[in-house]
Order: sequence, then structure tokens, then C-alpha cells
Amino acid sequence: MHVIFMGPQGVGKGTQATQVAGTLGLVHLSTGDLFRAAIKSGSELGSTLKTYLDAGDLVPDELTLRIVDARLDEIAASAPGGLVPGALFDGFPRTPAQAEGLDAMLETRGESVAVVVELTAPRDVLIERLAGRRVCPSCGATYHVTYNPPADGIHCDNCGTAVEQRKDDTPDAIERRLSLYDEQTAPLLEYYRGQGKLESVDGDRDVEAVSDDIVRVITGTTAST
Ligand code: AP5
Repeated sequence: MHVIFMGPQGVGKGTQATQVAGTLGLVHLSTGDLFRAAIKSGSELGSTLKTYLDAGDLVPDELTLRIVDARLDEIAASAPGGLVPGALFDGFPRTPAQAEGLDAMLETRGESVAVVVELTAPRDVLIERLAGRRVCPSCGATYHVTYNPPADGIHCDNCGTAVEQRKDDTPDAIERRLSLYDEQTAPLLEYYRGQGKLESVDGDRDVEAVSDDIVRVITGTTAST
């Protein structure tokens, strides 16, 4: 069972994906996390990716698809029977070309997307969440200065590293990313609505209420297909 989380930046896709993947036994595949790991590794690929991420621009489709395909191969190689277990795609696909590329990638593996969960929240909420987000550069845990601060306000609760602000959580990059979502990614909702796979969940509630609804929607949808 493959699931896609869609929704604008700051709506809580990463926060929810971590919880829901654990609850449903799915592999969390975040393109943002894959790109940041490549940047952290100091590779040539990482320095190419860094220019796009720092500016809040989208990584080109061909490169994004190649990286996702390679990650699916890695997941399959370490899974029993060489089959990709259920994946939860977070932040991917973001363009029509990526959606078509994902369909093709899964089809060659005899698989398909089961359900697409769209998370929603008003724009002022998104901006406040992004401006207050802090992340752990070591283990990737996500915090918020008001809604979910680390216990001592400074260090990651999991690994003790000082949390920091993402380079693309500046006002200019936030504005750019939200505009790109409206232009390039929001039209994909129609693509999945047309396939009868789109479910919408109100993301403007506390984290547990949103997770409960997402799990209910996914299990309800997949049980009836
Ligand atoms: P990515 O890492 O995916 O970032 P993003 O798209 O900007 O999305 P966010 O991580 O900002 O939003 P989120 O919805 O996950 O919010 P979160 O859960 O953290 O991508 C980064 C970059 O990589 C892109 O800009 C692009 O350059 C590139 N890229 C990635 N994928 C690509 C692709 N497919 N194609 C091309 N380029 C790609 O929550 C935000 C904050 O809110 C946190 O502080 C959290 O604690 C808080 N919060 C969450 N839920 C709640 C709640 N219910 N109540 C209160 N606070 C909450």
C-alpha cells in the first residue's frame, strides 16, 4: 500500500508522516530529507541540490525522479522478497511530471498509489509554523518554538544536538515555496481527484487529532478497495 501526503509547506506533512508511518508500518520517503542527507554528505550531488533548496526552488524533475527511483531500489533490496513494502511519500510528487514518473516507477514494479491524503491549513497558520520551526541537524527531529519546543528550549530531546532554523525558513524563501506550491503542486490535486484517490484532512488542529484522522482515512480507504 503506497500513500502520498500532499499539502503546502508547513501544513505538517513531515510531522504527520513520522507518526503515521510508525502506526501503519509504512516506509517514510521524504524527498526533502533525501536531498538534505545528500547535502550533508558533502557529495557533488549534494552541492547541486543545495543551490535549489537554499533558494526555495524545486529540484528539477529528472533529478528528483532519479533519486526517488534509486531510493525505492534500496528499500526493495533490503525488504523480504525484494518487494517495496508500503511507502509513505512526503513532499513527492510535486509536479505533473513527477506524478506521472511515480506512476510509471510503481507500474514497472507491479504496484500503484492507493490513497493521496491532502492536508489543509490557512496561509497565516502555515507561515507562523514555518517561521517558528526548528530542526535537529543530527537526527532530523522537528520542533516549533511555541507549539512543540525541545524540553530545554535549545537541544534536541532525542540526541542532545542544538536545534536550528532551516535555511529555507526565511521570509523570502517561505514566500517563494508557497507560491511554487500554488503554481506547480496544487494542480496535482485534480490529477488524483480524477483517479478517485484524493482524501482531504483538516491539518489546522493539534497533532494527535490530525494523525488520528489520517490513519482513519487511510485504513478506511484501503479496506474498501
Ligand atoms: P521539504 O523538506 O519537503 O520541505 P517543504 O516542502 O518546504 O515542506 P515543509 O517541510 O516545510 O512542510 P511540512 O508540511 O513537512 O511541515 P512540518 O511537518 O515540518 O522540501 C525542502 C525543499 O526540497 C523544497 O523547497 C525543494 O527545494 C526540495 N524538494 C523536496 N521535494 C521535492 C520534489 N518532489 N521536487 C522538487 N524539489 C523538491 O511542520 C512545520 C512546522 O509546524 C514544524 O515546526 C512543526 O512542529 C509544526 N507543526 C506541524 N503540525 C502542527 C500542528 N498540528 N500544530 C502545531 N504545529 C504543527
